Amino acid sequence: MTILNILTLPDKRLKTVAKPVEKFDAQLKIFVADMLETMYEAPGIGLAATQVDVHQQIVVIDVSEEKDQPLCLINPKITKKEGQQIHEEGCLSVPDIYAKVKRASYIEVEAQNEKGENISFQAEELLAVCIQHELDHLKGIVFLDHLSPLKRKMALKKLEKEKQAKAL
Ligand code: NI
Repeated sequence: MTILNILTLPDKRLKTVAKPVEKFDAQLKIFVADMLETMYEAPGIGLAATQVDVHQQIVVIDVSEEKDQPLCLINPKITKKEGQQIHEEGCLSVPDIYAKVKRASYIEVEAQNEKGENISFQAEELLAVCIQHELDHLKGIVFLDHLSPLKRKMALKKLEKEKQAKAL
């Protein structure tokens, strides 16, 4: 398996809109395994294909404490949203930046798994946050895009400073 390179802001490729997966082949299974390994190694609780410069509708998620409940969603859609929750989010593509984002508290999801089988389920709390965050990536949206222009500007400045500090 391979650890994939994760794009970080302000990389414009993160704004790419992902296309649906049509072929459920061995190559897809290898890619999903690589995405999971990359997410666990980072470490993160979710990763969208967009973040590793593959512009197909694929996300992996694991919000469990033991990191033993991998979830792979292909061509995912949120079919119902209810309520509101505010959660402090971070993102592997926006290192060291955290901000509160308002999301739906309850969602219903339809997707396919890596075998191409249809799956549907409900999610709440952290899993719902993570799914909404990862599905945004597939549309070219990062969590900073949900902030007010001023807060987004401040976060991007901080990101730039941290990048410069790391480069020294
Ligand atoms: Ni993210």
